[in-house]
Amino acid sequence: MLKLNWRLALASAALCSSVVQAQGVVADGQQVAMKGDGSGAPCLACHGMDGAGNNAAGFPKLAGLDADYIAKQIRDYNAGTRVSGVMQPNVDNLTEQQILDVSAYYASLPSPDTAVEAEASLLASGKVLATRGDWDHYIPACESCHGPDSQGMGASFPALAGQHPTYIKQQLNAWRNGSRHNDPNQLMTGVAERLTEQQIEAVAAYLGSLSAKAGGQ
Ligand code: HEC
Ligand code: HEC
Repeated sequence: MLKLNWRLALASAALCSSVVQAQGVVADGQQVAMKGDGSGAPCLACHGMDGAGNNAAGFPKLAGLDADYIAKQIRDYNAGTRVSGVMQPNVDNLTEQQILDVSAYYASLPSPDTAVEAEASLLASGKVLATRGDWDHYIPACESCHGPDSQGMGASFPALAGQHPTYIKQQLNAWRNGSRHNDPNQLMTGVAERLTEQQIEAVAAYLGSLSAKAGGQ
């Protein structure tokens, strides 16, 4: 009887701590965004307090991205499967709880409208790629993984709609040159290496011209 209770207590304690851990606390995450990891620059210096990022500088928008996706990316920088000399020094001192907190914070923010204008013909060819793909070159539609209107699908497939074109181009090139190799089953590497320079330009312009869905998650 005693043994059974002990096991039950242990099991429920493990369950509770994993629930708390998996969530992250938005208010604590806000502090991390303002203060940074203690050794690097605060997140808001580049990503903004509202998580809007900056197209010209190539700082991604974080607002409204899935919390588990954000947390995975931070761990990937620290593991070296995603390489960025600008980004990695700012997150290498975060604890696992701080990673969860700051991810919850940015995920909770509504995505600011940052839509960038582009030439109509460029947008049109980008739209074909995003919604139908280019089957002559074995390129599936971006939507087929990134969800309807490229608004994202759960933790694995990030939203692309409303992300900055400069950043999207940088990431496609990062997969082509191997500095980002953190994608499960090389799903993105396979796509990126088949795209032409023109297709990268067009699809980045199209995705950057869209609005992200309203509201954080
Ligand atoms: C000095 C500017 C700078 C600071 C400060 C900074 N970042 Fe970044 N961040 C970047 C850049 C540049 C990238 C894109 C790097 C790349 O090409 O992978 C990035 C990428 C990211 C990504 C990947 C987004 C995605 O869509 O995959 C996350 C998550 C992130 N940063 C979180 C943070 C957090 C959390 C902090 C604070 C603890 C922080 N960053 C501080 C510049 C910065
Ligand atoms: C077969 C599935 C699949 C298809 C098709 C696909 N992607 Fe992805 N994509 C992924 C996965 C998985 C990730 C996240 C990888 C990771 O965990 O870092 C991703 C991530 C990305 C990112 C990084 C976003 C960020 O916030 O850092 C960009 C940019 C991207 N994809 C662009 C595209 C474009 C453009 C297309 C269409 C031409 C496309 N993807 C088609 C699976 C796919």
